[in-house]
Amino acid sequence: MIPTDLQQAYNEHCQIRLTQYQAAMQAAGRQWLIVDSGGLQTRFLDDTTYPFRLNPYSARLAPLQSFPESLMIIGHGEQPALLLYQPEDYWHAVAGLDCPAIEQRFTVKTFSQIERLLQEAKAITGGQAVAYLGERPQRFDHAQPNPTLLLAYLDFQQAVKTGYEITCIRRANQIAAKGHQAVAETCRTTTSELALHLKYLEAIDASDDTLPYDNIIAGNQHAAILHYTLRNDEPQSMNSLLIDAGATYLGYCSDISRTYGNQPGLFADLIAQLDTLQTALCDSIKPGVVYTEYHHQASLGIAELLVDNNIITCSKSQAKEQQLAGVFFPHGLGHLLGVQVHDRGGHQADTRGTPNPPPEKYPHLRFTRTLATDQVFTIEPGIYFIDQLLKKAHSDGRGKHFNWALIETLKPFGGIRIEDNVRVTEQGSENLTRPAF
Ligand code: GLY
Ligand code: MN
Ligand code: MN
Repeated sequence: MIPTDLQQAYNEHCQIRLTQYQAAMQAAGRQWLIVDSGGLQTRFLDDTTYPFRLNPYSARLAPLQSFPESLMIIGHGEQPALLLYQPEDYWHAVAGLDCPAIEQRFTVKTFSQIERLLQEAKAITGGQAVAYLGERPQRFDHAQPNPTLLLAYLDFQQAVKTGYEITCIRRANQIAAKGHQAVAETCRTTTSELALHLKYLEAIDASDDTLPYDNIIAGNQHAAILHYTLRNDEPQSMNSLLIDAGATYLGYCSDISRTYGNQPGLFADLIAQLDTLQTALCDSIKPGVVYTEYHHQASLGIAELLVDNNIITCSKSQAKEQQLAGVFFPHGLGHLLGVQVHDRGGHQADTRGTPNPPPEKYPHLRFTRTLATDQVFTIEPGIYFIDQLLKKAHSDGRGKHFNWALIETLKPFGGIRIEDNVRVTEQGSENLTRPAF
């Protein structure tokens, strides 16, 4: 499961993370911690289940994506236990754990009955200051469910990735890049959003269930819908294509966006200029700077770009002062990335969970922390022509500075997003995405 070349790195990773889990337990006054993989959820009045999503707090300790119903039991002294559910089942496939690296870090026990597995978890943890992480706390009435302090501690710490995690995210980028390249090639010959989605899956050799989030494959004006996931259109011609698609490697995610135009002209120029702005932002990343500052720089850069291209008609300083870029760039510059595409902890000031909310003028910003070495996050500026936001700007007066005739010609292209995954290094940054292309 964990390939040979990563076993040593996993071992070190697991040591680091387990030590953090124990420190989090200490902070929350807990002797034991039960981490629940989660279970398969049945659809309403149905006998089919939703795809399984591993509890992220399990995923950071081991890639147990094929092991619903398993539990990790972490104490303070002894080796942690991994209780695996291995039913005797001829209806469904049951994954086997064949992973020396995990077996080295956990005492693995297998159970064919859930009741026995739960009994074992209760027997190990006793009634002593137990915490439970997961969505089924009713199974463990002796445990404190999801203690706020414990979660805050883990959420804050996990922003800084281990060497193993960085390798996994780098590989997740390499996989996704293959899909992106296949789509970039194929969109010259088909306008079907579904065909492009299927091409992506074929190129990365994966099914939908393994994706970190639903692929966004948005042709033409669909690119103005930030999270467009319908993929049911096949327009007469494709003026533009926005693809926002990732992949997973041992549970770690990539999150990449590219935008293509089909002809030279203003839209293609905007793509090129936003690309220049985006790469400059990525290159300027360094530890010690507050991420909000990069969002601010992105907003200013987009304001300038819109004035330079005569989409906004007032002066650059006026455009910046009045926050006019926000009409065209209505989301945050990026977010933490890990086993969740939007990793938690982006709005925390410390391990105690002191809030660090975004400033009022950037309410959608998901990440407001000071950058530290080995944090991994996205840089994803965008420019969109969104009717709803343009109408609002028109009615509240901001629109008097807009070149409406030009905007009308751009609406059929929808919008642009360019998104890379970036790691902070001691001196600056490493772009995990660009070398994969
Ligand atoms: N793919 C979702 C995002 O970029 O945040
Ligand atoms: Mn993203
Ligand atoms: Mn994305």
